[in-house]
Amino acid sequence: MNPLNHVAIIMDGNGRWGLKYKNSRNAGHKAGLSTVEKIIKETIKHKIKFLTLYAFSTENWKRPKKEINYLFNLLEIFLLKRIEDLHKQNIKLKIIGIKNFSTKLNKLLKLAEKKTAKNTRLHINLALNYGSKFELINAFKILSKKKNKVNEKNFVKYLQTKDTPDPDLLIRTGNTNRLSNFLLWQLAYSEIFFEKKLWPAFNKKDYNLIIKKFKKVKRNFGRI
Ligand code: FPP
Repeated sequence: MNPLNHVAIIMDGNGRWGLKYKNSRNAGHKAGLSTVEKIIKETIKHKIKFLTLYAFSTENWKRPKKEINYLFNLLEIFLLKRIEDLHKQNIKLKIIGIKNFSTKLNKLLKLAEKKTAKNTRLHINLALNYGSKFELINAFKILSKKKNKVNEKNFVKYLQTKDTPDPDLLIRTGNTNRLSNFLLWQLAYSEIFFEKKLWPAFNKKDYNLIIKKFKKVKRNFGRI
């Protein structure tokens, strides 16, 4: 059975789900947030130590302003309402991506990171305004200015995931089979599961089934 330390998720399909069932993409984002809560709970049950969630990519700025505002408002309300409880549950929240949102949201995110920094039960990386190519170029730039040897060990020090092991498992919901500029370096040896269900419809049974299948995969890491 494979150990499972880190799950990464591309939470895709909110918009389609919202349009289909509530005639509103934003309603899909709201429902998507409930799935986030359920999956966090289940991740803790499995004693998985790291969970990385792709919530907003650098490319998502191309969406209509109204949808972007709705998403960030949802995040603000979530943080205001839930951060104390996440802290009590010994959950650490870290943002990967560039925090260039409204002053209020930037402040809230920094506060949430600071408050939960020492927590140890589950480390959640929330990818917000995150793009893997940007992260890689940035790391190369920093490393090239240092006197350190260019090798993997020195390079990963400058990734935003420097304090996180690489994901063992990547799940992408929403019936789309691509990586969308997510953790391109870190996913080099991850097992990838593409799930047909849209994110708001994804439930603990689906998650548990993927985990069960993951545990049985023969992971070779290049060996035979
Ligand atoms: C992708 O679905 C989802 C997003 C861009 C946003 C993810 C947000 C959530 C899961 C809820 C909010 C979470 C937090 C932490 C505030 P999509 O809109 O691209 O769906 P589509 O492919 O059907 O259009």
